[in-house]
Amino acid sequence: MAATPTVRTACAKVILCGEHAVVYGRPAIALPLARLRSRAILTPGVATFHISAPDIRAEFDLTADATRPLAVLARLTFELLGTAPVAGTLTVNSDIPPSSHLGSSASVAVACARAIAAFCGRELSAAEAGSLAYEAEKIYHGSPSGIDNTVIAYEQPVWFVKKQPAQGEGSPMTLLDVQAPTLVIGDTGVSTPTRVTVGDVRRGWEAQPARYERLFDEIGAAVTAARGALQAGDWPALGAHMNANHALLQQLGVSCRELDRLCAAAQQAGALGAKMSGGGRGGNMIALAGDDRQADQLRAVLLKAGAARVM
Ligand code: MEV
Repeated sequence: MAATPTVRTACAKVILCGEHAVVYGRPAIALPLARLRSRAILTPGVATFHISAPDIRAEFDLTADATRPLAVLARLTFELLGTAPVAGTLTVNSDIPPSSHLGSSASVAVACARAIAAFCGRELSAAEAGSLAYEAEKIYHGSPSGIDNTVIAYEQPVWFVKKQPAQGEGSPMTLLDVQAPTLVIGDTGVSTPTRVTVGDVRRGWEAQPARYERLFDEIGAAVTAARGALQAGDWPALGAHMNANHALLQQLGVSCRELDRLCAAAQQAGALGAKMSGGGRGGNMIALAGDDRQADQLRAVLLKAGAARVM
């Protein structure tokens, strides 16, 4: 066991395209955001394993509240390590705005699992950290596809297809070796929990399965085309597929006035493409810029159109 504090971090993410349809077995592409990070610091203590996450007002002992997502994550991490919970305090903080669909919960979970393991003398593989974080994500989000914890644990662009029960085991993701597109991220300043929009899509799909399956297929086709454009570095084509994806997400009912306003402002200002990103009905949108100069222009346009912050 470490005698000094052990610190591990994890990145944020954006969904480039394919959110929501990915829950229904269609592909999606997600990108890591290396500069926005969460941190977990495990400090040796004398008695219990204590978790302190002031950003989400969580302060508890592992034994006292074993059902909370971070408690479940800690217990599963100790189980994987074959170790009883250590005496210490796990303190969590994050630069990632919560409920903004940038992967804050998955990032915190990955950072915590890594810090616990490192404190006990072991570095987790990306697959291990991702699987542990997925268990916490299920408690936060209900039925997540697993894309957030995967892109964050690997910290590389991923092509992700959730395995359906009939398809058996197998890795759902492929790491993409691509040049990162220049994205400007606009925060609407409003938020809806991902579990709410995922639940609404589920109810819509149950009520009108044929309509939703058609929309998911169209999103899947846009994502497949976007992958080709991303791999070719064809930014105008990628932008067109992002615009098409946003229109389909509007039809799924997961966009909102604020997201549509920011996407329209970016498109009118010459962005190659713009779409909501993640769970929707608030949170962030992404605009694709041709170069850094256009990114600066888009930043100003989005702030003028009401973005609460632009990254
Ligand atoms: C969340 O980042 C993306 C969604 O597709 C939900 C999920 O995949 O679990 C909305």
